[in-house]
Amino acid sequence: EGSLTVAELAKKLGKQPSEIIKKLFMLGITATINQDLDKDAIELICSDYGVEVEEKIVIDETDFESLEIVDDPANLIERPPVVTIMGHVDHGKTTLLDSIRNSKVTAQEAGGITQHIGAYQVTVNNKKITFLDTPGHEAFTTMRARGAQVTDIVILVVAADDGVMPQTVEAINHAKAANVPIIVAVNKIDKPTANPDRVMQELMEYELVPEEWGGDTIYCKLSALTGEGIDNLLEMILLVSEMEELKANPNRRALGTVIEAKLDKGRGPVATLLVQTGTLHIGDPIVVGSTYGRVRAMTNDVGRRVKEAGPSTPVEITGLNDVPQAGDRFMVFEDEKKARQIGEARAQKQLLEQRSVKTRVSLDDLFEKI
Ligand code: GTP
Ligand code: MG
Repeated sequence: EGSLTVAELAKKLGKQPSEIIKKLFMLGITATINQDLDKDAIELICSDYGVEVEEKIVIDETDFESLEIVDDPANLIERPPVVTIMGHVDHGKTTLLDSIRNSKVTAQEAGGITQHIGAYQVTVNNKKITFLDTPGHEAFTTMRARGAQVTDIVILVVAADDGVMPQTVEAINHAKAANVPIIVAVNKIDKPTANPDRVMQELMEYELVPEEWGGDTIYCKLSALTGEGIDNLLEMILLVSEMEELKANPNRRALGTVIEAKLDKGRGPVATLLVQTGTLHIGDPIVVGSTYGRVRAMTNDVGRRVKEAGPSTPVEITGLNDVPQAGDRFMVFEDEKKARQIGEARAQKQLLEQRSVKTRVSLDDLFEKI
């Protein structure tokens, strides 16, 4: 959406605002000096002055969600996959996450009490995998609704003693809507009543045909409780991620999504961010949703202080002026002044949007009462 006021356009063109207003009037547009002009009006005026409109002048920097991130393919390198675990209630999502974390993280970080930051990384065969610790379908839906696609691969957990249930189907639909590959984890195979074949049969209905039956869906039979089959699952994740050719440019200003955020009594606003491209550094001027600041302290998924974080890395940061929301996008800017400017503009915009919603609601209320 174009967004320049008459005054701003006049300044860019080196003309008097009154002259622009006159021209607009001749074109049948009545405008005041502070009025926002749309793209068409800007183009009309510019062509009248024989000025080529560069798309640049209508880019709204406060709308960084819709800014296309263009990277030279030569600058892209492999990045870890970001994996979300989904499935029906009690089918073992949390147990599986814990089991993966315990088998990999705790062993390496001897004695380290893992601090919960909503996401964690494990290393398998020298390759990293990032797991999002917020497997709630709601969180997934909210993020997707806000345009934030953070997941590369969905692990669909189905208990072998229970089979396909309503939330299993919901999870399949989420994954399909997001267009991400699904790996099926047939869980609880340690149970005497487990029937993995039944799970596979039931999932055929949803186009998840197992490889062994001629399809292309990977099924991993495992027990999150005993740990059986976990290593195989991790290897399959790496296999799928290789096929997806996940890449990012670590040598640019960081951009990504808020996984969770809260107000900490001592530290102020604290946000867990997933860096999706670029590298985030201590001291970076940043806009997070409608908040802004400078990255003051940064800790990784095991609570260690870090100075930087590359693509697919989850980190917890402090230094923001307010608490952002899960699903908010973040972006690093060249300097603090710019970050503040953009952050304030976005906060203002959000406020106006909220107000206009409220006004509409109260008008509707009014009409209902009449
Ligand atoms: P919600 O978060 O409530 O949706 O459940 P969840 O999917 O996270 O399931 P959770 O990991 O809490 O597991 C539910 C129950 O199943 C717990 O009592 C687990 O101990 C048990 N469970 C999970 N995995 C296995 C398994 O592989 N084998 C057996 N026997 N029990 C399991
Ligand atoms: Mg759970």
